[in-house]
Amino acid sequence: MGTDQQLKRSCFKKHERRFSVTYPFQYILGEQRFVCLLVGITIACVVFNVIPSHSLPQKGLISAFDDSSIAVRRRVGYELNGGFGHLSAGGKIPLGLKSKSLRILVTGGAGFVGSHLVDRLINRGDSVIVIDNFFTGRKENLFHHFGNPRFELIRHDVVEPILLEVDQIYHLACPASPVHYKFNPVKTIKTNVMGTLNMLGLAKRVGARFLLTSTSEVYGDPLQHPQAETYWGNVNPIGVRSCYDEGKRTAETLTMDYHRGLNLEVRIARIFNTYGPRMCIDDGRVVSNFVAQALRKEPLTVYGDGKQTRSFQYVSDLVEGLMRLMEGDHVGPFNLGNPGEFTMLELAKVVQDTIDPNAQIEFRPNTEDDPHKRKPDISKAQRLLGWQPTVSLREGLPRMVNDFRQRIFGDDKDLTVTSIV
Ligand SMILES: NC(=O)c1ccc[n+]([C@@H]2O[C@H](COP(=O)([O-])OP(=O)(O)OC[C@H]3O[C@@H](n4cnc5c(N)ncnc54)[C@H](O)[C@@H]3O)[C@@H](O)[C@H]2O)c1
Repeated sequence: MGTDQQLKRSCFKKHERRFSVTYPFQYILGEQRFVCLLVGITIACVVFNVIPSHSLPQKGLISAFDDSSIAVRRRVGYELNGGFGHLSAGGKIPLGLKSKSLRILVTGGAGFVGSHLVDRLINRGDSVIVIDNFFTGRKENLFHHFGNPRFELIRHDVVEPILLEVDQIYHLACPASPVHYKFNPVKTIKTNVMGTLNMLGLAKRVGARFLLTSTSEVYGDPLQHPQAETYWGNVNPIGVRSCYDEGKRTAETLTMDYHRGLNLEVRIARIFNTYGPRMCIDDGRVVSNFVAQALRKEPLTVYGDGKQTRSFQYVSDLVEGLMRLMEGDHVGPFNLGNPGEFTMLELAKVVQDTIDPNAQIEFRPNTEDDPHKRKPDISKAQRLLGWQPTVSLREGLPRMVNDFRQRIFGDDKDLTVTSIV
């Protein structure tokens, strides 16, 4: 009995000590538990603070955009999430399936602007799918990407639907020069309306961001000069250029309706006259016409009195603007063009100075609905995209002349990669 009582008493004492105020402190301080606790806290701090900053995407992955903080932000977000819309319910993706770059669709990517855009996207580290029906585009513009696992080229007409898994869609497919878009006007408007609808539908289905390359032609023969995005235009709805002008206006409408009604992320660029390597020779656009004519020692054809004005943007400036627009936070529309304004006669003079000072000028009657003045107001793009053109006409023209000389005179040696810098 005595020992039983002693045992009970000692148990009670132990119990009493545990519930005393000082017991937790004694416990922590005993047997170096406090040191272990400190070590644990230190390790946790290192893991949560130091390691995440090292696991951010490496600079190389975002280098193509190091001049655009907006883009970097979006891209960093993308890398961390393993790509928009790819997070599984648990927030983790099996290692092998982790997407390292954006998957981008470029419609009309075999054309003049599209192929330069593809170059920039591939250089940035993205995967690019081009769809093109080769109406005005050429495989040669993309030869240098053949064999690259991040590049795919599909012969496809945007008038027909297609299903592809992509994160972004740059929708360029549409003949851009009057010679080409007037060739089959019904097809042109179908491309603009049905083609744009199909691409918007695709964007909606896969949750991609959609960028439409519209045109300064939406301003028609403008009554406002220079043209700001707020100007609604002065367009002939039944003229020979309407298939293009009204087609693009409808494409803009569809884009905004998908944005407002279906919450699609969209961007609209209104592109002004652009020139550079890989433009179609003899496509009726004034810069390519003059350059080809001067190289062939033919007279430069000026329509009307040559006093109508245009602005000329070098293609690398445009591509930069398109990418900033796509990666930025603003829907647009945004004018992308060079505000430097030239009359046709002034342009002819620059071409003479660059290629052949003896080139003659030949006047011909003006074409129907040719706008008299065209000059972009780019203040919105300057303000919201931090973008403005950097290449002047006198700098850009010689870069284009080298490419034209190679193609016209059949000097194919370096034709595969025509640099824009
Ligand atoms: N270059 C400019 O000065 C300028 C000015 C304003 C707007 N834009 C717009 O920019 C975009 C690209 O113009 P670009 O100068 O590179 O013209 P481009 O003719 O060189 O390129 C257009 C591309 O679209 C392809 N295409 C045409 N119809 C198609 C269809 N139905 N399906 C699939 N592919 C089709 C062509 O084969 C070509 O590769 C066009 O949407 C154009 O309207 C260009």
